[in-house]
Amino acid sequence: MAEEKIIVLDNAFKVFQHIRGIAKLEAMHPEELAESFWEKLSDYLTHGSLGLIYIKDDKVVGETIGVPVSSLEDSCRDKIPGLYDSSTLYVSSFTVQSEYQGQGIGSKLVKSFIPQAKARGYSRLIGHAAEGSSLRINNSLGAKVLQRYPDYYGTGKNYYFYELIL
Ligand SMILES: CC(C)(COP(=O)(O)OP(=O)(O)OC[C@H]1O[C@@H](n2cnc3c(N)ncnc32)[C@H](O)[C@@H]1OP(=O)(O)O)[C@@H](O)C(=O)NCCC(=O)NCCS
Repeated sequence: MAEEKIIVLDNAFKVFQHIRGIAKLEAMHPEELAESFWEKLSDYLTHGSLGLIYIKDDKVVGETIGVPVSSLEDSCRDKIPGLYDSSTLYVSSFTVQSEYQGQGIGSKLVKSFIPQAKARGYSRLIGHAAEGSSLRINNSLGAKVLQRYPDYYGTGKNYYFYELIL
């Protein structure tokens, strides 16, 4: 059986090796939020970003990435209440392919992400979690909801801005 594993994409070679599989996962998000291949590549290559992927059945079935707040576009930064410094990572994406959801992969990704972020000197994660599993997983790890965004970017879904102190 093929090995199941989490990979930290800590160099450009690994990013280029997996970016196609990562970009495909964007189909799991509402179209208003889905990023293009190039936006995804740019996030993963941003200095200071931290991306983790989950490999199963020889393909990328999950990913999560945090980017430094300073690298965010203004349109996104407008939806961040408060000021955050260089010790904060904005979790811009958290995705598991639909056929693999509900097996604990999302939780494993976030649980691995936390020590990796700490090891890189970050002390706080922030992000917009979708209602449902994403919010529940983050809450279970100690995230605090600071603001609710109804109909986030016209998706018709509620997203919750959260903070997780590491
Ligand atoms: C959010 C997302 C990444 C979660 O990934 P996931 O792999 O399904 O997460 P998990 O499997 O760890 O947890 C999901 C649920 O399955 C349950 N679960 C975990 N392992 C399980 C198992 N072995 N058997 C049965 N249920 C299990 C969890 O308790 C959780 O239940 P809940 O939703 O009632 O709280 C995924 O649903 C997704 O990609 N959604 C679409 C995109 C999205 O909205 N992303 C978040 C944007 S912020």
